[in-house]
Amino acid sequence: KHIIAIVPAAGIGSRMGAEIPKQYLQLNEQSILGHTLDCLLSHPSIEKVIVALNPEDEFFTSLPQAKHPKLQAVVGGKERADSVLSALMLAGEDSWVLVHDAARPCLAHLDIDKLIASADTFSQGAILAAPVRDTMKRSNAQGLITETVCRENLWHALTPQFFPAHSLRQNLSDALAAGAVITDEASAMEWAGIAPGIVTGRADNIKVTHPDDLQLASLFLNSAAQ
Ligand code: C5P
Repeated sequence: KHIIAIVPAAGIGSRMGAEIPKQYLQLNEQSILGHTLDCLLSHPSIEKVIVALNPEDEFFTSLPQAKHPKLQAVVGGKERADSVLSALMLAGEDSWVLVHDAARPCLAHLDIDKLIASADTFSQGAILAAPVRDTMKRSNAQGLITETVCRENLWHALTPQFFPAHSLRQNLSDALAAGAVITDEASAMEWAGIAPGIVTGRADNIKVTHPDDLQLASLFLNSAAQ
């Protein structure tokens, strides 16, 4: 298998409330995106890493990884799915892609290995996911609980998400053209009637979304380094 990583990094991270896009915030010794790219660039099975950047990005070229021979940059789009689609245009027809959020810097190589190996079982692709731990509630618009949602078979979808490039490209572009709400790669495949596999991933593979998450990510990276 030819395996290519795609990193959507074209967002502005408005929920962080920071001056610069969140993927460029400092986390321990380097940027969030730097950690994410290091993990993917150093994985022996990954041939190429395609990163989708905001057209107004001013920070990427200053990263130490920017000139890495395995790295290629493309201009991203309006939504995450548009950014992934523009990166997919550079992925070879017979390759498989690992799509991974720039904002998840704590990814472990063992989780990548597990996901890649899962393709033997899940021939149409799979995602990393973590089982839901808390009791789940549904509320109405007034903030009153209307239901306790059964936790069995309920998962947090993580990344990477691993699919054949040609099939993801087709389904993602069809789903977007049809106006479907697509928040991850699996949802585009589901839209097309495919059932992706679930591979249990580490719960510390968090997405840095709010300022508090930076402290958690810092702890996770430090404990992984020990
Ligand atoms: O905002 P959120 O955390 O959901 O974004 C997930 C990932 O998608 C981030 O790495 C972000 O940079 C990326 N993204 C993108 N293009 C967009 C919006 C988000 O590549 N238009």
